[in-house]
Amino acid sequence: MKLQPARRIAGEMRLPGDKSIAHRVALIAALATTGSEISNFSTAADCASTLSCLRELGISIERTENKVVFAGDQELSAPRAPLDCGNSGSTLRILAGVLAGHDLTAELIGDASLSSRPMRRIIEPLEMMGAKIESTDGKAPLKVHGSSQLNPITYKLPVASAQVKSAILFAGLNATGRTTVIETSPSRDHTERLFNGFGIPVTINADHSVTLWTSGRFIGGSMTIPGDVSSAAYFIAAAMLLPDSQLTIEGVGLNPTRAAFISVLTSWGADISTTDLQTERNEPYGTINVRGGVKETATASDRTLSGSMIPSLIDELPLLAVVGSQIEGGIQIRDAAELRHKESDRLAATAANLRAMGADVEEFDDGLAVSGPTQLHGALIDSHGDHRIAMAFSVAAMVAEGETEITSAESVAVSFPEFFTLLESVAQR
Ligand code: S3P
Repeated sequence: MKLQPARRIAGEMRLPGDKSIAHRVALIAALATTGSEISNFSTAADCASTLSCLRELGISIERTENKVVFAGDQELSAPRAPLDCGNSGSTLRILAGVLAGHDLTAELIGDASLSSRPMRRIIEPLEMMGAKIESTDGKAPLKVHGSSQLNPITYKLPVASAQVKSAILFAGLNATGRTTVIETSPSRDHTERLFNGFGIPVTINADHSVTLWTSGRFIGGSMTIPGDVSSAAYFIAAAMLLPDSQLTIEGVGLNPTRAAFISVLTSWGADISTTDLQTERNEPYGTINVRGGVKETATASDRTLSGSMIPSLIDELPLLAVVGSQIEGGIQIRDAAELRHKESDRLAATAANLRAMGADVEEFDDGLAVSGPTQLHGALIDSHGDHRIAMAFSVAAMVAEGETEITSAESVAVSFPEFFTLLESVAQR
């Protein structure tokens, strides 16, 4: 994909439904005793992987445009073929939790990237609950031997991960008693919000740990999924960096465990406001308005992203590094070694690609220091087939001088197939 720089970003948009919410609502609807109708379902290939795995497990799902309808009151049955999770860590890890709580055996497989990612983090707690999981040295393929009579556990997450937390909570639906997950830093809380939203009793304790009470059976229902805030992030950042931009994104998710990048960009001088705040099944959403230009200089502490804020910024960190190259004084990211275990090693990919565009970047084991402001120049960007690297560097291309070419740019379809079409529709030259 070849991209030319833009002068400004202007327009109004609505985005396909949030990917993380879509995975979870699909799993809830598959397990519910009555039917469910999910509107504005994510168009991401990752969420299509979740739906196709559920179909392989015998769940009947009808999909028309962006509406997905579940019949309800269906039992999962042993699949005849391995369940292909594609590139999707959320599909593989959270579905493993669902399978752990059913009397069946199923094999979970993924593409080369997913097959290289760490899975011991789910194997350990799910085996403590009574499932048996065969792996290839802690990696996929995983063969899950589930049981409908799991033991409830109290488990402290060794790494902050919403996927691991969610795998345990979905398994906990079939455990007798209380399942508690303790997090050291809060990760995205969609599972907790949606469980409560669908009448499954979860409590958030004073220390932020989460307790699920044996749920028994629960009913489905309808939901319109808010637009994906992680997809919105690329447009918001591009609009911030190009003066005279004016962008409105309606109906977008504003869950605080996901939208933290908005406060970070605001602290770096962005002019961003949110209006029309509403909720859907406990998930907040609203309209985001961005006016281009950086209004003030950020303090040194605002320019350091570290510690407990990292999990709620996790998918936006490559993008924030790109924005950081345009910020007076530059930025630092620390405590983010988890980025090395995403769809690609996102610390290495971000550092190498920023350098290719002329930025001065230092890479640490757990982060990056990016100097700024630097006039970026067009370059050949290696996305490593990672959708978030391709999209973060498309934003860099908007503010660079000259043409940028991004390899394997089609990987954006993993989360956001419409990305380049929408970018062209709002980028003015
Ligand atoms: C996700 C959680 C995060 C995130 C991923 C989606 C989820 O992963 O990076 O894109 O839907 O729960 P971890 O839980 O591994 O941090």
